[in-house]
Amino acid sequence: MSVPDNSVLLAAMEAAEREAAVLVMHAHGILAECKSGHRDVVTEYDRRVQALLVERLGAVCPGARFFCEENDRHDDLHAETVFIIDPIDGTMNFVRGMNHSCISIACHRSGEPAAAAVYNPYMDEMFTAVRGGGAFLNGRSIHASDAPLSETIVCCGTAPYREDLTGETFRMLERAYRLSLDIRRQGSAELDLCSVAAGRAGAYCELSISLWDYAAGSLIVREAGGRCSRADGSPLPFDGSVTSVLAGGAQAWNDFLTLP
Ligand code: IPD
Ligand code: CA
Ligand code: CA
Repeated sequence: MSVPDNSVLLAAMEAAEREAAVLVMHAHGILAECKSGHRDVVTEYDRRVQALLVERLGAVCPGARFFCEENDRHDDLHAETVFIIDPIDGTMNFVRGMNHSCISIACHRSGEPAAAAVYNPYMDEMFTAVRGGGAFLNGRSIHASDAPLSETIVCCGTAPYREDLTGETFRMLERAYRLSLDIRRQGSAELDLCSVAAGRAGAYCELSISLWDYAAGSLIVREAGGRCSRADGSPLPFDGSVTSVLAGGAQAWNDFLTLP
């Protein structure tokens, strides 16, 4: 059976996210269960959203494989078509009623990023990209900032599941704070990356995140003209390993790499 082209897959990803968003927006009696530790939580909604996305995308692309955060669904990332899913990115926000979370899907083809959709249901903002086709917010083209770090806000993550990185994280953030306008810790890595892509933030950095936290956002940043790498500037891995991530407009990304 032939595989649908990237734009058909993107449309299916967007439709599945909008459908799943109804679950998120009508959630009630949310109970958090701990996974690896007290900061790493999951709810029945994470699992229900993931199940719905897998079902819808599997129907559109029957041979597709999946690499998902919940339920240890980690298929081969080098398969012809793989969907990388974070059903709710920002689960702690979701549990605490902070209203800043998203549903994230990336599609990789033979190991290469091909399409991405990140939907923030609270703002009705759909960030999308197809490789080589630019980045969009609700259908309008978006671009990373070309400003130096000193003229931008920096988004950050605290690598909450890696307490051994807490000291290094906050030392790095102090340096970034001193050079920039201010820092923000908003609670969703994918939305932080989309903020960089939209030019709202100059940069985003976090010292330990998983593929489902950055697969979609990193393509959107690059298609918006920004840079996305490990924190030391080396290429991001797409083999499923946990990594640091630094994203930014070209100038801000460079400034962050050489923070005094
Ligand atoms: C987390 C969020 C958070 C980031 C963590 C991620 P989750 O994802 O993106 O902002 O700091 O590193 O794990 O657990 O809410 O899907
Ligand atoms: Ca996540
Ligand atoms: Ca998640």
